[in-house]
Amino acid sequence: MNALIDILRARLGSGGMLTDPTDTEPYCSDWRGLYHGRTPAVLRPADTEAVAACVRACAEAGAGIVPMGGNTSMVGGAAVSENGHELVLSLSRMNRIRAIDPVDMTMTVEAGVTLKAAQDAAREAGCLLPLSISSEGSAQIGGVLATNAGGNNTVRYGNARELVLGLEAVMPDGTVFEGLRRLRKDNTGYALRQLLVGSEGTLGIITAAVLQLSPRPRQVEVALCAVASPEAALALFTAFRSADPSAIQAFEYMSGTGMGLVNRLIPDAALPLAEPAPHYVLVELASARDDDSLRTLLESVLGEALEEGRVLDAVVAESETQRLAIWKLREEHAEAQKRAGGNVKNDVSVPVSRVPELIARATEACERLIPGIRVAPFGHLGDGNIHFNLVQPDGADRVAFLARDHEIMDTVAAIVRDLDGSFSAEHGVGKLKPYMMPSWRGGAELETMRRIKHALDPKGIMNPGKVLPEASPPT
Ligand code: MLT
Ligand code: ZN
Repeated sequence: MNALIDILRARLGSGGMLTDPTDTEPYCSDWRGLYHGRTPAVLRPADTEAVAACVRACAEAGAGIVPMGGNTSMVGGAAVSENGHELVLSLSRMNRIRAIDPVDMTMTVEAGVTLKAAQDAAREAGCLLPLSISSEGSAQIGGVLATNAGGNNTVRYGNARELVLGLEAVMPDGTVFEGLRRLRKDNTGYALRQLLVGSEGTLGIITAAVLQLSPRPRQVEVALCAVASPEAALALFTAFRSADPSAIQAFEYMSGTGMGLVNRLIPDAALPLAEPAPHYVLVELASARDDDSLRTLLESVLGEALEEGRVLDAVVAESETQRLAIWKLREEHAEAQKRAGGNVKNDVSVPVSRVPELIARATEACERLIPGIRVAPFGHLGDGNIHFNLVQPDGADRVAFLARDHEIMDTVAAIVRDLDGSFSAEHGVGKLKPYMMPSWRGGAELETMRRIKHALDPKGIMNPGKVLPEASPPT
C-alpha cells in the first residue's frame, strides 16, 4: 500500500491527496452514521486524466477504490470498509460546467458539480435541469448519475437516467470511455452509458456527463393540502391528472407523524395550516404558458376536493418565499427524522394505485413488530415511491433499535413484494441492501449482473462490497 500511495502522491501532488487521519475522517462515515471505516488516503484528482492515472495505479496494485461525490447516500453507497485497504476517490475538484447550449438544450458538467450548482447554471441560461432531490445542495452529479437518482420531479421528467445523453467515465482498467455525445438519437450498439448510470460506481467512475435540459416553465404553482387518508391523497392525484396530465411537476405525500417531527425539530419550519392533519400532500404544477390558467386549474381541482371533503384544508403559495417555505416542510423530512433518533429507511416503490394499501399494511405490521415505533412515511406519491421510514420509539436505545434494521426492512419488504413493488426505488442497493438481491433479483438477473461485473472489473476493485452480494461458495 505504501508504494502505491507514493506513486499516487507523485501523480496528484500534495494538494491532490489527503492522508492525515483528521483530514480523511469525514470521508470514512456516511450521512446516516451507519458506517464508519478507514482509509489510508483520499485521492482528489482535478481532471479526467488524473482520475484515469489513479485507477490505473490502483488496478495494477489490486487496491480497492471507493468513488465519492457529496457522500449523501442513504444506503452506504460510498461507505469505506473497516479493513483500511480501500482508497477513497473524491470527485469534488472536478467541478467545472464545461458547456451549456440553450439551442440544443444540453449541459456538459463534470462529476463534482453539485446538483444545485448545475440547476442554477441551467436556470441562468434560461433552461431547466429538472432533477430535484432533497440533498441537492451537497449531492454531486457523478453520484446522482451513478445511483440513477429519482427525486421530486420523476413523475414528469423521469429519473436521472432519462436525462443523460452522453457520458465520460474511467473504466476499471483506467481507460477512458469518451461518450460525451449530445445527440437525441444515437443507436450505435450497446447503451454503455445506461449500464454505468445506476451501477453505483461498481463498473467505472463517471467523470462528466451531457444532460438533457428542458424549457423553463413560465408559471409554477405550489399548494400544501391536509388530507384525511392516503386514499384521499391518491384521489387528489388522479383528480389533478384528469384535469391536466401535463401540469403535475411534483406530487409528494407526507404523514402527520413526519410533519410533526419537521415542525418540532427544524427551525423556521412552521405548518401554514390552522390545524395539524393526519396526512399531507404537496402538489407542484408547472406550465410553459404565460397566463393564469395554472392557478385556475389548481383552484378548481382544490375547490372541488374541499367541497367533497377529500381535502380538509389547503394553502396556496402566493410568492416565491412561500413556495420555498412549503417545500422546506417536505425537504427537511430526512433531517428531522435523523434528529429524532435511529431511523430505518425503506425506499420502496409500488404501483401508484397500491400506495394506500402499502401505507396501511406496513404501518400495521411495523407497529405490531415494535410497539411505540414512529411510522413516518413520505415521498413521491406521484411515481409510487414511498420512503417508508421508521423512527425509534421516543426514548428508546438507538443502537438496540438499529440492530433490528433487517427485521424491520424484511417486514416492509414482504408487503412490498406482495404489492408487486421494489425494495429500492431510488436510493440504490449500496452496502446496506446487497443481502436482498438474491431473493429479489436472483437467477438469471443476478447472474448476468455478476458476469458484467467480472467482465469489466475482474479484480473487483471498483466500490467493493456494493450492489452485488458475495457469491456463495459452490456446494
Ligand atoms: C427524500 O426524498 O427526501 C429522500 O430520498 C430521503 C429519505 O428517504 O429519507
Ligand atoms: Zn426521495
